[in-house]
Amino acid sequence: MRIVLDTDPGIDDALAILYLAAQEQAEIVAVGSVHGNVPAPQAADNALRVLELAGLHTVPVAIGARRPLAQPLHTAEFVHGHDGLGGHAGPPPEGRPIKQSAAEQLVRLARQHPGELTLLALGPLTNIALALLLEPELPGLLRSVIVMGGALTAPGNITPSADANSWHDPEATDLVLGAAFPLTLIGLEVTEAARVDQTWLDTLATIDNPRARFATSIIGHYANFYAAMFGRRECTLHDPLAAAIALDPDLATYRRLAVAVELTGTHTRGRLIADLRPIVNTTHIESSITTDRHPVDVALTADAATFLSRL
Ligand code: BDR
Ligand code: CA
Repeated sequence: MRIVLDTDPGIDDALAILYLAAQEQAEIVAVGSVHGNVPAPQAADNALRVLELAGLHTVPVAIGARRPLAQPLHTAEFVHGHDGLGGHAGPPPEGRPIKQSAAEQLVRLARQHPGELTLLALGPLTNIALALLLEPELPGLLRSVIVMGGALTAPGNITPSADANSWHDPEATDLVLGAAFPLTLIGLEVTEAARVDQTWLDTLATIDNPRARFATSIIGHYANFYAAMFGRRECTLHDPLAAAIALDPDLATYRRLAVAVELTGTHTRGRLIADLRPIVNTTHIESSITTDRHPVDVALTADAATFLSRL
C-alpha cells in the first residue's frame, strides 16, 4: 500500500510512523505535517526524526498549514511535551523539509499517481481541505482516505464533545467530510479500545532496540499525562490504531453514514454528528444530515487485541 501520511507528531503519531515503517506492505511515499499537537514546522522536524530513526531517510516531508482555516492556532504541548515527543526529540533531524507545502505535495502526488495512493490523516484536516480547494478532483484521484478523528458516540477528549483533530479545525473537517472522498473515519469510540496499561508498557520496555527504546520513552511521557489527568497510568494509541486499520481494514467493522460537523455550538463545536437513529419510515422525520453529505465508512468497533499484539 502506497501511503501519503498527513500528521502532527505528537507521541501517538510518532508511534504510528514507527508502526508503518515496520510493515512490509506499507510504503510511506511522502509526509505532510500539520498544526495540531505542535506547530507545523515542529511536526515536520519530528516526522523527519522518527522516519530517520526507522531508517527511512529519503521520504520527503513537507510543512503544512500553520494554522486552522477559521480559528486561532491551539496546540497540545500539555499532552505531548514541549517538543511534541515527550521531551525526547533529541538533536535536529539530518534531513530538511521540502520547499513545497503539504497541500501542494498531496495534489502533485495524487495527480502523478491517480487511483494509487492511500491518504492517512492523523491530525487536523487543514492540509486536506486546502488540497481540495487547490484540486477539486482530489477525491477521485485517491485510492482511499483514512482519517483518525471525531467522536460520534464517545465523549470528546479535548472538550467534553470533540476529539482534538476535529476541534483543531472544524471548518476543514467539514469541508473534507462534505466532499466525495472514499473515506473511512476512525473516531474516539474505536480508538479508545487501543488503550495500553502498565503491563503492556513494561513488556515494551523489555525490547532492546533503538526504536523500542524511543517508543518506551515517549509513551512514558504520554502515560504520565494520562495518570495525572485520569488517575490511571494507561494511554490510548489513537493514531497507531488508525494506521493499522489503514493497512488491514478487517481490523474494524463499519457503518456507512453521512457525517456532519458542528460548527456553531457553544459547547459542541467540532463534534461530529451522524444520524444513528434506526429510522425505517421518514414520513415525519427528516434528517438534516443525510441530504447534502456524501456518506463515509465510519468504524464502529476494532479488534484492539490483535492490533496491540502487532504493535
Ligand atoms: C488525536 O488527537 C491527537 O492528540 C492525537 O495525536 C490523535 O491524532 C486524538 O484525538
Ligand atoms: Ca495526531
